[in-house]
Amino acid sequence: MMLATLRFVALDKTYIPKILEIEQVTHTAPWSQRSFENELEHKYGIFLVGLIDGEVSAYGGVWILVDEAHVTNVVVKENLRGQGIGRKLMIELLTKARTKGAVCATLEVRATNATAIQLYEKLGFIQATVRKQYYPDNKEDAVVMMLNDLVKWAP
Ligand SMILES: CC(C)(COP(=O)(O)OP(=O)(O)OC[C@H]1O[C@@H](n2cnc3c(N)ncnc32)[C@H](O)[C@@H]1OP(=O)(O)O)[C@@H](O)C(=O)NCCC(=O)NCCS
Repeated sequence: MMLATLRFVALDKTYIPKILEIEQVTHTAPWSQRSFENELEHKYGIFLVGLIDGEVSAYGGVWILVDEAHVTNVVVKENLRGQGIGRKLMIELLTKARTKGAVCATLEVRATNATAIQLYEKLGFIQATVRKQYYPDNKEDAVVMMLNDLVKWAP
């Protein structure tokens, strides 16, 4: 596995089967095949796939709502975590969102997901508010995070 070969490309339908495999073992409420297919045609969305040696290693997306980039999904394949891939993916997504006119970014994250919260804080997100019992599967709280100034953002 050559981390140096990591590159980010737009989602293509040929990647979806592998993404669904990763999604199933990652999330308690995984996205459906249809959800990923919708990203192929999403007019205000950016969805990227991280490839290492040509293999799907990470994926994530944002929706651009007027001038706000909302992060919808961010995943690094389990055996590849802790090597900076998640950080690179987020930087790529937010940089692309900025070129499409986003001036700030938001996301929701499970309150127990300390790894993700730390990743986002290191990128400049702050914890804005908590949505109580937001996740229907286990009634867990969501932390709403914001990056207020994407224009001057320099991660
Ligand atoms: C969250 C996730 C995308 C991070 O990806 P990653 O490639 O492992 O993250 P990185 O290696 O880029 O780490 C970036 C920062 O995250 C934090 N981090 C990473 N692994 C961590 C760990 N095991 N424990 C605590 N913090 C951790 C650190 O602050 C790290 O910065 P550092 O390396 O300078 O210490 C990945 O763990 C993942 O796919 N998790 C499952 C899906 C998920 O929870 N997605 C987010 C939903 S909102």
